[in-house]
Amino acid sequence: MDLMKNEAYLQCIIPSCGKKYDTSEIRTTCDCGNLLDVKYRRAFNKRLTYIFFARKNPLGNIFNESGVWRFRELVNFTGYDSEDYDNYSRVFVSFDGAEGRTRPYEMTKVAEYVGMPRENVLFQPEGLNPSGSFKDNGISTGLTHAKMLGVKEVICASTGNTSASLAMYVANEGIRAGIYIPKEEIAPGKLAQAFQFNADIYQVNGNFDDALEVVLRKGRKGAYVMNSVNPFRLEGQKTMIYRVLEHLDWEVPDWIVFPRGNMGNCSAFGKAIIELYEWGWIKKKPRFVAVDAKGSNTFFTLYNGFYRNEPLRWNNGNVNEELIEEYYAYLEEKGWKPKTCATAIQIGRPVNIKKGLRSLDFTEGISVEVEDSEMEDGVAVVGSNGFDCEQASAACVAAIKKLVKGEVIKRDDKVVAILTGRLKDPDTIVRYHSNRENRFANPPRTLNP
Ligand code: F0G
Repeated sequence: MDLMKNEAYLQCIIPSCGKKYDTSEIRTTCDCGNLLDVKYRRAFNKRLTYIFFARKNPLGNIFNESGVWRFRELVNFTGYDSEDYDNYSRVFVSFDGAEGRTRPYEMTKVAEYVGMPRENVLFQPEGLNPSGSFKDNGISTGLTHAKMLGVKEVICASTGNTSASLAMYVANEGIRAGIYIPKEEIAPGKLAQAFQFNADIYQVNGNFDDALEVVLRKGRKGAYVMNSVNPFRLEGQKTMIYRVLEHLDWEVPDWIVFPRGNMGNCSAFGKAIIELYEWGWIKKKPRFVAVDAKGSNTFFTLYNGFYRNEPLRWNNGNVNEELIEEYYAYLEEKGWKPKTCATAIQIGRPVNIKKGLRSLDFTEGISVEVEDSEMEDGVAVVGSNGFDCEQASAACVAAIKKLVKGEVIKRDDKVVAILTGRLKDPDTIVRYHSNRENRFANPPRTLNP
């Protein structure tokens, strides 16, 4: 096949600008201030799906074991031929092939809880990744870009999972990770990972949005930023969708459900779907469901027009920036801060908001919100199927239940949800299960010896 090699470039996401840049630049934004996409000069042929499948027998190649690099043609911005092992193995970053090896699963008890037949609602537990969250998909490709450019230090702001993943992945690459985390607002297990993997940790007095501002400021001065504004990171996150579709024999589900944080996933998933659609691999579009935590529902509010009665839309790149700024200023004035038990998605100002809007526009997506208690119940129900996920991930379970009840999702629709991360704060679970008032509490029985 002549499709193994492809050239990549960066391009401004706003159609009326469309300015292009070389992939050798360290930049996350266009001169006009908007974000960038990685673009490929040629389309890809669907026959590649046979190759992806064949690589499931890895034949000793860790880049076939990896559920990111198994799809390497579709995320290969390096310019190396995807079959030229000697060359690509020098730059592709992988945790020994361990990332991205999950796929959608049926979970009988969760299906019953949300009110759907078990075969119609599938859950992809990205917590099974080496660092315990979906981030490993994107850190492997993002770091590949940094490595190509000979970067020696990368930085990120984080609600905990990005920093854990980054710290883990740089550990064997001779690169330092500077991580900026909101003080006392991340799960202890995530902080422990950053310590354990020997990252340089900076605790920011403020919340995630404040920490990200610090990092983006450094980025404008030339630092290499590994947050999801990094378009190379989002390339790796596309593979979550490839694994969903591969599992379904490339038949598109009706709905894809995921939590909304900084909208990196919303952006990456949308890019995956848009590209596959443009290349003719899929004929149907799934509808996206982006789920906000109620205590952090800025996107939900804007998208559904609950601020100024004006729904925020992609509008072919003419996003109403004034509306966003005015809303944020209004919240600031009120002294409102995002607050939810799902700290991973406690994000008031999603930095990928425009890309996220583009994805929802293409997929006729919707935005919903769920309560903390609903997420906590969701964690417990997922647990009863032998899987664990954190509160942010369980937002999907709560959202599906709500949408099935409201008959937005029909019982015979096909739904896939991404359970984005493993639980890294066991205290919250012990507390939940110890309190008999919680719906799925499983308190211990006391015995006298
Ligand atoms: N779920 C989990 C478990 C997360 O850690 C995050 C984001 C999200 C969902 C939201 O994804 O940002 O792509 O919309 N965590 C980031 C972090 C912000 O720093 O670990 P998104």
